[in-house]
Amino acid sequence: MSLSPLASPTDTIMGADACLAALAAEFSPAALLTGADVPARNLQDTSYLPAVRPLAVVRPDSAEGVATAMRICGAHGVAVVPQGGLTGLTGGAHPIAGAVMISLERFSGIEELDPASATMTVRAGTPLEVIQKAADEAGFFIALDLGARGSCQIGGNLSTNAGGNRVIRYGMAKEMVLGLQYVLPDGTLITGLNKMLKNNAGYDLKQLFLGSEGTLGIITRAVLRLHPKPGCTHAALCGVDSYEDVVKLLGAARRGLGPMLSAFEVMWPDYWQVATVRVKGVRAPVDGAHAFYVLIEMQGLDEAIDGARFQSWIESVFEAGIIADAAVSQSMGDVGAFWRTRDACAEFGTVLGPHSAFDIGLPVTAMDDFANACRARLAAELPNMLSVYYGHIGDGNLHIVALSEGAAVQPMAEICAIVYDTVRAFGGTISAEHGIGLLKKPYLGYTRSAEELALMARLKAALDPAHLLNPGKVFDPATGDRA
Ligand code: LAC
Ligand code: ZN
Repeated sequence: MSLSPLASPTDTIMGADACLAALAAEFSPAALLTGADVPARNLQDTSYLPAVRPLAVVRPDSAEGVATAMRICGAHGVAVVPQGGLTGLTGGAHPIAGAVMISLERFSGIEELDPASATMTVRAGTPLEVIQKAADEAGFFIALDLGARGSCQIGGNLSTNAGGNRVIRYGMAKEMVLGLQYVLPDGTLITGLNKMLKNNAGYDLKQLFLGSEGTLGIITRAVLRLHPKPGCTHAALCGVDSYEDVVKLLGAARRGLGPMLSAFEVMWPDYWQVATVRVKGVRAPVDGAHAFYVLIEMQGLDEAIDGARFQSWIESVFEAGIIADAAVSQSMGDVGAFWRTRDACAEFGTVLGPHSAFDIGLPVTAMDDFANACRARLAAELPNMLSVYYGHIGDGNLHIVALSEGAAVQPMAEICAIVYDTVRAFGGTISAEHGIGLLKKPYLGYTRSAEELALMARLKAALDPAHLLNPGKVFDPATGDRA
């Protein structure tokens, strides 16, 4: 057996030129932008990694077009990076020099809403908010919601198995997928647009593509599960005086509101300060200083019964001394105003500048000890550190935004090393919902065993032996372990 020689720079250029010529023969000028014509938005995602100019961006307007682009790139040995709304925080859709981006932005729209099976069939490039509105207009509810709803695309949401605000009730993005269509690294288009809740015929192949961050295939269409539109929505913004009481409040909410509990979001005072003082247009719904601010949301069936139940439940936790204060929504406007305190983190890039963002996971009871340990280590080991803590605590998912205030260049690698070392010490996960991408790749071994990493590498090798699809994202395909 002889080893194949490494491609010389000349071979690479010839491969690139031939690839571009083959793409140009298939795709119109609107669908293929090369070199300096690649739009600025395709050069970067939201990970603060430096912009990279790829060889080209292809923007097919059909699933077959995605398959064709993948096949052409594969035939010429040119790597492909799938791109959606580019709102990812870890570099999963970040361009690779010399690679072709396949952007799903022109393959957008809702193809069918089937009320009887309670499903919606969508194209991968459809923005999440468009899907939410269409479901609402038809009397349904789509479970997924997150801050980037206006610009993220469903294909990206599913390929990263996004979490978001209502996981406590509905689960992660993969829970809402009944069927999937995707393109394999060899250009095969697989259509499995199942609408049935139950389908145990053989392997559940779609799971391979939900959360593998575009390293095993490119999602082109999905059948999403719809839920009934809530009959009423209520929320409370509570001031809580100890973390012990936050944990008691979560238990009380689960018992008192049952399956109607649709969000349990906790904000530490350092987060609250930035969100309600520095972000424009956000007002604190409760007065006074508290140790924790908790946003609780309930989606009920019936305003008269469930609205009254929510009110009496809040009164009961106040009387039990679990909460110190609460603002209770009187209208959907109030619900929106409460959520603005939580959505304010989307503006942190504007008010704080470049920063490191984390989505770690921990047992609920460990969250505050972790926050204290992490804050103290960052402050002790790096200059002028601001770190703020908040998140989907009901899901065991804590967010951290951290930066060295006033630094010309953020010490992002050092911040990551400290945060993930502390996560490892607490037995948590380095990613609860955003995925691994490029930024967390060196730390995957903190959360996954050597055997798990080896199995990931075997799956990657089976589907993408030439390492052409989103290479080097999640883990290094050559070894399966960079930790
Ligand atoms: C949020 C994003 C950062 O929960 O996951 O706000
Ligand atoms: Zn989140």
